[in-house]
Amino acid sequence: MAGTVHVIDHPLVQHKLSLMRSRETSTGTFRNLLREISMLLGYEVCRDLPTTLVPIDTPIAPMMAPILDGKKTVLVSIMRAGSGILDGMLEILPSARVGHIGLYRDPKTLVAVEYYYRVPDNMGDRDAIVVDPMLATGNSAVAAVDRLKESSPRSIKFVCLLTCPEGLAAFHAQHPDVPVYTAAIDERLNEKSYIVPGLGDAGDRLFGTK
Ligand code: URA
Repeated sequence: MAGTVHVIDHPLVQHKLSLMRSRETSTGTFRNLLREISMLLGYEVCRDLPTTLVPIDTPIAPMMAPILDGKKTVLVSIMRAGSGILDGMLEILPSARVGHIGLYRDPKTLVAVEYYYRVPDNMGDRDAIVVDPMLATGNSAVAAVDRLKESSPRSIKFVCLLTCPEGLAAFHAQHPDVPVYTAAIDERLNEKSYIVPGLGDAGDRLFGTK
């Protein structure tokens, strides 16, 4: 079963992504753009969240008005670059609960190794949105979703800024049930597992560590 991929090709998203890709873009600007673009991605990702009607009084009349249904959504950030997307998504989902998964890429094997895991209780009643800017080899995304599935959330979606055919294939080979939302599918991975043309190392660009 092939997995679902949603490419958010809205002009505002594409414009901001192009600014982020440029090597001339400063750390501060990159950080602001990631926050802004994440709000726009989040808007699309939340499109099918269930709503329920509640009675309210407007200044003019009573009405039944829709609000988000069920327990609060959980945003699960893959550390460390996931925090850039998390910040933007929290602006539009301010009551969301937050989970963290710490993974590092073993430089020799490129396998994802877990060093931190904490998610809210009652995951069985919650919709989870996993965030990481780059879905490259897919190793971290697969490991994060493997781990998250142990807590059986009601649903899981994966949100990234950029991905590539190799990453999507690897991810959906393991998790065909998890839809991916992305601003672009780039050409390929290079020999160092960077996305081409990509935007470089998302964590370094976000935190100014290089
Ligand atoms: N992680 C990044 O930060 N950038 C890439 O291109 C691939 C993985």
